[in-house]
Amino acid sequence: MVGLVGPADVVGSVGSLGPADVVGLVGSADVVGLVGTSTTGAGGWLRLDITDRSAVLTLVSSVRPAVIVNAATRYGDWAVCADGAAHVALAAAEVGARLVHVSSDALHGGRPAPYLDADPPTPVNPYGAAKAAAETAVAAIDPRAVIVRTSLLIGDNRSTHIRLALDLISGRRSGALFTDEYRCPIAVQDLAAAIWELADSDYAGPINVAGPEALSRAELGRLVAARHGLDPASVPTQPSAEGGLGPRSADVRLDSSLAASILKTRLRPASGCI
Ligand SMILES: NC(=O)c1ccc[n+]([C@@H]2O[C@H](COP(=O)([O-])OP(=O)(O)OC[C@H]3O[C@@H](n4cnc5c(N)ncnc54)[C@H](OP(=O)(O)O)[C@@H]3O)[C@@H](O)[C@H]2O)c1
Repeated sequence: MVGLVGPADVVGSVGSLGPADVVGLVGSADVVGLVGTSTTGAGGWLRLDITDRSAVLTLVSSVRPAVIVNAATRYGDWAVCADGAAHVALAAAEVGARLVHVSSDALHGGRPAPYLDADPPTPVNPYGAAKAAAETAVAAIDPRAVIVRTSLLIGDNRSTHIRLALDLISGRRSGALFTDEYRCPIAVQDLAAAIWELADSDYAGPINVAGPEALSRAELGRLVAARHGLDPASVPTQPSAEGGLGPRSADVRLDSSLAASILKTRLRPASGCI
């Protein structure tokens, strides 16, 4: 990673966007702490609950990382998504760390036209509202921070979306993939590379980093099936209105042309990276 001085720290790192993605790019010597509430602490990884304000401030001021990537999230948990993001931003600002905050297309309400980088949030459910609140807090506390708005993470079997499709096909889970919810899936490897490029830049504020291809969740499931040698028709599908999951955004297409023009990382279409 050209231009990174000192250790890099990653907050919320054992999910879909995980240590392997980061260590592979930065080099293990530079990653001193990957954290999550369930992290064991083995192998140099640290445990941190970002809802604990003083714990965040203490850890960050002792590690003094050059870069913090906050990819921590917990669906439906305001304290993690919103309060936790504010704590991390505060800590980053205190030690002068470069902050990359990972946000989500979930903060948009859905519309036929693609969303631009700085379009204001229009959340329709608590998760989207928490991600929107996080962005507001991060931008207010640390205006130099880059806020990466991304979409469905795919690329390997750690992806919850890929596992869900395979589980639905096999009958391990019940349910169906929605035919009318469009997103712009991105390979987690592309996202990780883009994040590290952005960390090494002076870009500030929100930027869309998603794939160039909009697919419905059902279409994504059929792609997963085909890639695994399974019958795409075996993916159970239905309109979202029949899912009984409450208010959801239908069409959320992120226009990532700015990211594609300023980054060396190629943001591949979903059909090219599953
Ligand atoms: N997955 C997607 O399709 C998708 C789509 C759009 C945007 N995003 C965004 O991408 C980012 C990464 O998502 P992901 O899918 O990798 O998430 P994930 O798989 O659910 O992983 C979440 C991570 O957050 C950590 N975490 C949860 N609560 C925490 C807490 N209180 N303190 C510290 N760490 C905590 C978890 O570690 P522990 O379990 O150890 O606590 C885990 O490492 C998030 O900002 C998300 O909003 C993801």
